[in-house]
Amino acid sequence: MNLAVPDKDCSLCPRLKGFIDDNRIKFPDKFNAPVPSFGSIDARLLVVGLAPGLKGANFTGRPFTGDYAGDLLYPTLVKFGFAKGVFAGHPDDGVELLDARITNAVRCVPPENKPTGEEINTCRPFLIDEIAAMKNLKVILCLGLISHNSVLKTLGEKLSAHKFSHAAQHDIGDIIVIDSYHCSRYNTNTGRLTTEMFEDVFAQIKAAF
Ligand code: URA
Repeated sequence: MNLAVPDKDCSLCPRLKGFIDDNRIKFPDKFNAPVPSFGSIDARLLVVGLAPGLKGANFTGRPFTGDYAGDLLYPTLVKFGFAKGVFAGHPDDGVELLDARITNAVRCVPPENKPTGEEINTCRPFLIDEIAAMKNLKVILCLGLISHNSVLKTLGEKLSAHKFSHAAQHDIGDIIVIDSYHCSRYNTNTGRLTTEMFEDVFAQIKAAF
């Protein structure tokens, strides 16, 4: 199957395309394009984030890489055997995902980290295609409410039947969806998400396999 991915000049969301165009002028040596998923399509675990951070994934081209957002995610993936290597915040740090893949609900960086509902809907076909292509998919880890909502809509579920809450588990056919608060700097700095809470979610993922 040919996986649908956004073109590097994707203009399905005019506001996001305009933001990328501006950032191409401001930061000409940076990635500044829809950020592709990372990891094997044959993986059993899919981690779904929100959207690339301006100076993180949007600069480096790898999800959760280059800003604070990956500092908890990648070491936790390593700790639980879903990655190997030492995360250093750049795409050539040699980190390899093992039986895991990382993507975002929205592939382009949104201004102020806030995609609109329309942008989330417009980008969803790529998530639908991604999930359809993952033939061994068993567990989806949703980081935050936007990811949770987009994944459940992708799976054809009613949101009213599946409320987002940290560590909630939703069994949908053969797929287990597990929620976590997003591992953003805001959430970790405020203590909304601690390392222990995040590791407990990964223990839950391991148990679900
Ligand atoms: N970087 C990403 O790739 N996704 C997020 O959700 C946050 C930062």
